[in-house]
Amino acid sequence: MALNTLFGGAYAGRRVLVTGHTGFKGSWLALWLRELGAHVAGLALDPITTPAHWDLLGLDDVTDHRVDLRNADAVRRVLEQYQPEVIFHLAAKPLVRRSYAEPVETFATNVMGLINLLEAARACTSTRAVVNVTTDKVYLDQPTDNGYNEACPLGGHDPYSTSKACAELVSDCYRKSYFHSVGNGGACIATARAGNVIGGGDWSEDRLVSDLVRAAVANTPLRLRNPDAVRPWQHVLEPLSGYLRLGQGLLAGEPVEGPWNFGPADDATVPVATLVARMRERWPSVLVEPSPGPHPHEASTLRLDCSKAAHELGWYPVWNAATTVARTVDWYRAFHQNGELCSKNDLRDYITDARAAGIEWAGRS
Ligand SMILES: NC(=O)c1ccc[n+]([C@@H]2O[C@H](COP(=O)([O-])OP(=O)(O)OC[C@H]3O[C@@H](n4cnc5c(N)ncnc54)[C@H](O)[C@@H]3O)[C@@H](O)[C@H]2O)c1
Repeated sequence: MALNTLFGGAYAGRRVLVTGHTGFKGSWLALWLRELGAHVAGLALDPITTPAHWDLLGLDDVTDHRVDLRNADAVRRVLEQYQPEVIFHLAAKPLVRRSYAEPVETFATNVMGLINLLEAARACTSTRAVVNVTTDKVYLDQPTDNGYNEACPLGGHDPYSTSKACAELVSDCYRKSYFHSVGNGGACIATARAGNVIGGGDWSEDRLVSDLVRAAVANTPLRLRNPDAVRPWQHVLEPLSGYLRLGQGLLAGEPVEGPWNFGPADDATVPVATLVARMRERWPSVLVEPSPGPHPHEASTLRLDCSKAAHELGWYPVWNAATTVARTVDWYRAFHQNGELCSKNDLRDYITDARAAGIEWAGRS
């Protein structure tokens, strides 16, 4: 199957920088970009989990810069040397509970680190598009029936959410103050707000699926916090298709600057307890017990309205809730029980299913 024609062929032969390539989403994005024929460089710290999806993938032809975003000079040197045409910015301190314990590192990385990257991009004449990955947690915690749309007010309670809301404002500032707008040359910037991402290859602490997998492998019940919290669960490939579609649009001069939601189909925005039950149906070793509180504040309901992405980008989720859970559980079972790595297979099946649904992320002609 020829993949390099997807996204209008925008990535074939293109120099792309992925920050956070050693992490969960960044490693999948690096894999996909290589399949699309891009030249890929990464900028990140060493993986902090064992195993780590990045290490397992063995993408030897990705240029691997282990650089701290907080070091402005080092970040600038990477861009000077690599001259990326597109940057996908995923590197971050992304964990809510960890951010309560490490607010300084969280703000320094997620806000000043972003500024260091955008300053380097500003000085880099090759860079034409920046996709800055934030989160659905950037919204002020005021749930609405239809979910948050991109016009809802930004907010944030914990340091992680607040730092990402700041990252949205910083992106908007750079778009208005420094980067040229679409059609005028220079770099363009869009931000992407995705939901709770699941899928194989995440072993982070304090994330529901990773914690459940660890517990299932160890044959112990997981102490479950916040079983009633409602989250938009989506497979990792779903937001990545949105990021790639955005990068394609920015490169093609489509008017796609600004913020975009990328969430799952409605049937996948469910309470934690429902996701656990769905996982258990496929993997009976997934066991839970109540966790005694109190727990730090986390938003009770997160739901995303993705109609803007559907109407203006032609972006839709490909996998429904059942497939998302099945692919996630099967990935971990294959890895932990048989030592198999299903990532390339998942990617190929995802693209096949997208095509069967009439989705090619073709862009505007
Ligand atoms: N996983 C989710 O459910 C989810 C949901 C919405 C948004 N996001 C966002 O997506 C992005 C990727 O998340 P993830 O789940 O892959 O996280 P992750 O923790 O798996 O990966 C984080 C990456 O950032 C890098 N990093 C951290 N601090 C750095 C620093 N100071 N300098 C350079 N690199 C640094 C790490 O080395 C790693 O490569 C983040 O911006 C996160 O906020 C994630």
